[in-house]
Amino acid sequence: MPVSIAQIQKWKQQKKPIAALTASDYAIAKLLDKAGVDMILVGDSLAMVALGYKNTLPVTLDDMIRHAQAVGRGVDNALLIVDMPFLSYQVSTEEAMRSAGRIFKETDARGIKLEGGYPDMVETIRKLVQVGMPVMGHVGLTPQSVHRIGYRVQGGTPDTAEEILHQSKALVEAGIFALLLENIPADLATKITELIPVPTIGIGAGQGCDGQILVTHDVLGLSDWQPPFARKYVDLQSTITEAVKQYCQDVRNH
Ligand code: KIV
Repeated sequence: MPVSIAQIQKWKQQKKPIAALTASDYAIAKLLDKAGVDMILVGDSLAMVALGYKNTLPVTLDDMIRHAQAVGRGVDNALLIVDMPFLSYQVSTEEAMRSAGRIFKETDARGIKLEGGYPDMVETIRKLVQVGMPVMGHVGLTPQSVHRIGYRVQGGTPDTAEEILHQSKALVEAGIFALLLENIPADLATKITELIPVPTIGIGAGQGCDGQILVTHDVLGLSDWQPPFARKYVDLQSTITEAVKQYCQDVRNH
């Protein structure tokens, strides 16, 4: 049975940790799915790791849809979530509805994720959920706001921690099915996880969340740079470079 939203919500109650990773192409998506990843996110970080941009801002809705279609072809079991890219949902609720609608019509996504909290995103999320589109929230470090907040830890002071907690509760009230917590102190992430009824998925947010996500290119050692909290499980950059050097040598020595 493919993993459903209801399933991950049940896992929160059962305290069964949720393992999530990102994917941007068919080959990797297929491997992640076969290996038993519960949730696969077509994250807008693909702007950097797959398309070579400096941040997530340039990636378009068409880019996200194209990558999500490829990932979808490789996924049989994992819950497939697709990120809404910068400016595809912030200008108006109507535009958000159209952008999200395209993702659901043109890909196999079973949920979308968007960044931001109270007050900006609450009405938009409420509307999306009302018409049947499941939404995952994303608070803390929100990379689409890099030029305003940088890539620093968020919620490190009592006031900002309170603000993130307030945003999380408002997003739950608007109808999110899960919440991504990025780069916030572990004690704050644990508190949010205990206080809200939907699963929290953390990245750089400590062990107290209901699940964890990392960018697959970081886990596999394919990134040029990776955040300090991202554990590299294998160094594929070296492995691939060595294999390709060997191939070149074989061709040239023939
Ligand atoms: O785009 C992305 O990869 C993300 C990460 C925080 C998982 O949203």
